Amino acid sequence: MTRPLLIFDSGVGGLSVLGAIRALIPNAPVVYAADSAGYPYGTKSAAEIEARVPALLGRLAERFDPELIVIACNTASTVALAGVRAALDLPIVGTVPAIKPAAAMSRSRTIGVLGTETTVRQPYVDRLSAEFAGDCRVLRHGSAELVDLAEAELRGEAGDPEAYARILDGLFGQEGGESLDTIVLACTHFPLVEAQLTAAAPRPVAFVDGKEGIARRTAFLTRGRVWPEAPSEGIALFTGRDTDVDAYRPGLARYGLTQVRRL
Ligand code: DGL
Repeated sequence: MTRPLLIFDSGVGGLSVLGAIRALIPNAPVVYAADSAGYPYGTKSAAEIEARVPALLGRLAERFDPELIVIACNTASTVALAGVRAALDLPIVGTVPAIKPAAAMSRSRTIGVLGTETTVRQPYVDRLSAEFAGDCRVLRHGSAELVDLAEAELRGEAGDPEAYARILDGLFGQEGGESLDTIVLACTHFPLVEAQLTAAAPRPVAFVDGKEGIARRTAFLTRGRVWPEAPSEGIALFTGRDTDVDAYRPGLARYGLTQVRRL
């Protein structure tokens, strides 16, 4: 049996990362775990996330014996990556807000970081900004509503364009927002609604995220593995007892996740 990749998020945001991984290694077996019982992470304290994520990933690792784990969640990675690495003896790929590529691209030297409330206040983001965007103005905005909108879009429920515009105003409306030209999508849910954000932006800006880098890292760490000759049915696992898994089925199937289960 080939060991699967375990892709983890609080919800369906990690599908944006899974899509990029599948583009590089389409036949790798996948277990996608959504901690819907703990969703949303973005409004939780760092202490709650530190307590929850390593324990849950430990259970999932025992059950599925993955080749590696991808924490396809900025909030969990910026808070708990070190704790997960200390607790588990297998390769862990984390998600880092794409501040470095955004700073490299920005001409106006003003970039925005759009993430969850918990992510945008992490010292990790301060460190990335100081290291890679020292000569940029870095505006931050955290939005739990945008995470909910992305979840709803995946269930086939279209969000109100005005809601997207209002959320973006959290960056554009700040002092310095008039010169923003690049926005980091620092939550894996947000690339799922990039088209809606692009349509709602008051003027053209570049959106940047880290999913391709995560996919390349995953492919690199698993180089030399012999994958099955064809893609297998991916497993989507929800931790929440009350999650309406049927509503997610069509969206999950677009990412090759055709077996939907509860933990
Ligand atoms: N997808 C997650 C992230 O990248 C968080 C969403 C949530 O708030 O649960 O930050």
